[in-house]
Amino acid sequence: MELLRFSAFWCGTILFGSILLEQLGASSLGTKQNKRCKICGLRPSRCTGTGNCTSGCKITSTCTNPKDVCVSTWRKTDDSFTIDTVCHNPANELHGVRLKDYSNSRCEMKEKMGMGSKFFICACSEDECNDHIVFTTDPMSSSFKLRRLCKFCDERPTSCTEKGSCKSDCEKTSICEGLDDVCVSIWRKTDDNVTIDTVCHNPANELHGLMLEDYRNSRCEMKEKMGMGSKFFICACSEDECNDHLFFTSQSQVASVILVSLVPLVILAVLVITSFYWYRIYHQRHSGSKRKKTPLDFSDARAIIMDDGGSDSSSTHANNLNHNTELLPIELDAQVGKGRFAEVYKAKLKQGATGAGEPFETVAVKIFADEEYASWKNEKEIFSDADLRHENVLHFLTAEERKVEKQYWLITAYHPMGNLQEYLTRNIISWNDLWVLGGSLARGVAHLHSDHTLCGRYKVPIVHRDIKSSNILVRGDLSCVLCDFGLGLRLDNSLSVDELANSGQVGTARYMAPEVLESRINLDNIESFKQTDVYSMALVLWEITSRCNAIGEVKDYEPPFGKLREHPCVESMKDSVLRDRGRPEIPNSWINHTGIQLVCGTIDECWDHDPEARLTAQCVAERFNDMEDLEKLSGRSDSEEKIPEDVSLTEADQIEK
Ligand code: ADE
Repeated sequence: MELLRFSAFWCGTILFGSILLEQLGASSLGTKQNKRCKICGLRPSRCTGTGNCTSGCKITSTCTNPKDVCVSTWRKTDDSFTIDTVCHNPANELHGVRLKDYSNSRCEMKEKMGMGSKFFICACSEDECNDHIVFTTDPMSSSFKLRRLCKFCDERPTSCTEKGSCKSDCEKTSICEGLDDVCVSIWRKTDDNVTIDTVCHNPANELHGLMLEDYRNSRCEMKEKMGMGSKFFICACSEDECNDHLFFTSQSQVASVILVSLVPLVILAVLVITSFYWYRIYHQRHSGSKRKKTPLDFSDARAIIMDDGGSDSSSTHANNLNHNTELLPIELDAQVGKGRFAEVYKAKLKQGATGAGEPFETVAVKIFADEEYASWKNEKEIFSDADLRHENVLHFLTAEERKVEKQYWLITAYHPMGNLQEYLTRNIISWNDLWVLGGSLARGVAHLHSDHTLCGRYKVPIVHRDIKSSNILVRGDLSCVLCDFGLGLRLDNSLSVDELANSGQVGTARYMAPEVLESRINLDNIESFKQTDVYSMALVLWEITSRCNAIGEVKDYEPPFGKLREHPCVESMKDSVLRDRGRPEIPNSWINHTGIQLVCGTIDECWDHDPEARLTAQCVAERFNDMEDLEKLSGRSDSEEKIPEDVSLTEADQIEK
């Protein structure tokens, strides 16, 4: 047993030792001589054939033959580059080429012919040296570029004068040495000696202290230079033998050529400017006299004012900004309104005339201070959509930047009867008035919200977000006109996340829908914004109804939630609308009248706590339409008190129709 163990130990030791020796022997002898190279064979390459690059090959292997060196071959095919990394015995040809400089430590690419085209090859003798390859010349230019043929006589006397053109008289044409060389000629006059020097030269280097410019020409254009101790002329060009025929242009000649070619241009420009000036004067006079005869209607105003929106009402995004440097001749009158961001003035537009022989049109001018630019811009952009035009939406004429006054203006139709709140404060209305006011308001909001025009064309839906009785103007026929689009929002696909996120809580607290008060609008659905407008509209319909003599006893005007202070804050509105689920009161006595009953039912459905349960503005408009027969039955009873109208209704109508 002992003997067995002893012999097994020595057998194992001898076996292990021999394996170890074999391994050591192999590594010390074999791999010391055999190189380790990149050996991926042919594969696409990222090398572009310039500068340095790596093969991109991840496989390194010990070459089988101790004589092998590492080789990389780079080729440009029609649409790509390839690289071939191999071990190769330089005693044998590779691609029909016998490798020479293979004892280098770096793989320097040399251009060769073979394989049916030009290619680059490098060989080297250090482990993995064919991974990092170096292109010493630009293969693009060297392999595919032909060397230039130039006249090459060096300096010799010439009969060329420094004027016009002449020949170098050099009979020697040489192939330039450098691949990038261009042909150069130098004309020089020293005392009475005139010479021409014809050479090849690489424009990357200086020549007689000068860098060559304009060498990409096909002709050799002589330019006068200073240097070489005197004045001389030099030209460079890039076509074979182009430095034989020389063209002289002196600086003064250049200047005169420029001058001569500029004169007709200047004359032409003067002519164009003068004729344009006279045309404008003529046009202004002509159109001025025309307008005296006919009243300025809205479409006229568009023609005058919308210089780039044109009068094409089908344009969906007409730009009404008055880019004209000449601002409209407007004289401000009395202030008629004041909002959060701007003041509104009655004003005289002195261009054109009313049919009544007046020398001006009455317009409204909304003036934004410099700081309220954003609000002006927003309202201008809302108004600039030609599809917004509707009889129940304020007619927009133009927007102006009044740079001198640092103000921004919006010029619109003027409505002498003022806003609905003022009107209801001063007047008790009839059922018919209610029907006209309510129906037109709903039609205006429905148009705003609609995604199509009356002709059925697509339009961007718009939400107002600040519907209230003071943002509604009243016409002589008691139809409503929506105004103040400062908080308006175009519900188009381009709405940014920011615009949506910022749209949480805007408007006037008193008129804010419950979901706006608690900033919980469903931003995923654009209908949510329309539903908030419908809630506010319901409050306005309630205000109108509260002043209608068909409800029985009519109290003094009070805004919705009137018991609250003049401008209730969001928190107190939250208490009334969210916590108490309060809404303005609709007393039982009101609904003795069938029409009022229908209107109150509609109001109730419009101020539902659940936004989705609310009616659409379109539906409200249709309900008012359906009440037409009721209106006929009730007959027309005029409002009990009307405000004295300081301006005839036709004046307001002139601007609009
Ligand atoms: N108040 C606000 N805008 C007005 C307008 N266009 N006409 C009359 N009063 C206004």
